[in-house]
Amino acid sequence: MNIIKVKDKQELAKKAAGIIAGQVLKKTDCVLGLATGSTPLDTYNNLIQMYQEGLLDFSKVKTYNLDEYYGLERTDSQSYYYYMKENLFKSINIDMDNVHVPDGKAQNVEQECIQYDEMIRQAGGIDLQLLGIGHNGHIGFNEPADELVYGTHKETLTESTINANVRFFNNLEEVPTEAISMGIGTIMESRSILLIGAEGKAEIIEKMISGPITPQVPASLLQLHPDVTVIYVAS
Ligand code: GLP
Repeated sequence: MNIIKVKDKQELAKKAAGIIAGQVLKKTDCVLGLATGSTPLDTYNNLIQMYQEGLLDFSKVKTYNLDEYYGLERTDSQSYYYYMKENLFKSINIDMDNVHVPDGKAQNVEQECIQYDEMIRQAGGIDLQLLGIGHNGHIGFNEPADELVYGTHKETLTESTINANVRFFNNLEEVPTEAISMGIGTIMESRSILLIGAEGKAEIIEKMISGPITPQVPASLLQLHPDVTVIYVAS
């Protein structure tokens, strides 16, 4: 693992955006795996700025998001599709036909999950997967468990994740309890991975980097991946 410690979230965002920009410049039709949550927001802002300065062209880039809340329409302001549109896609020249987020309202969830992994394979696989990390070590919505799931699947969220995400909702009852998430295998098949952690994530990140590889800390599986960069605020 390539570990980069930074002093604050601004430096984190600059470095992360630099790595994503490098990927887009190197391969104009690259496939990006994208993440939501509060951590990537500044990174996306930096990318938007680079696009506005004429440094980046997203017209041929394809994206696959990690996860989506189960039961939410794309038009719901709490959905990850909506988040991506508002916080990145509407401000860059990406072709919305090239944008993919699991369908939280899929009639046949099993089929949706199989198709999502198949679409990624047909696109040639993910060149660079951006990840955040949950306080409990989850990546995407792969929660700590005795066994992890390889492919995209429906996941029941843990109490700790629901409590962590309540800040985006009016109250606890509104927070979805299930999500569709890329599996650990889907994530591990990416050619390269960039995991970012802002203030408050140093402890779990250090556990992920040097603790035992265990499904109880899903991110620790990344120790087995050959090309992972971790940028985090060492606080
Ligand atoms: C959610 C997302 C994860 C994200 C995590 C951390 O649970 N499913 O992909 O990494 O939250 O979010 P934040 O960056 O807001 O701490």
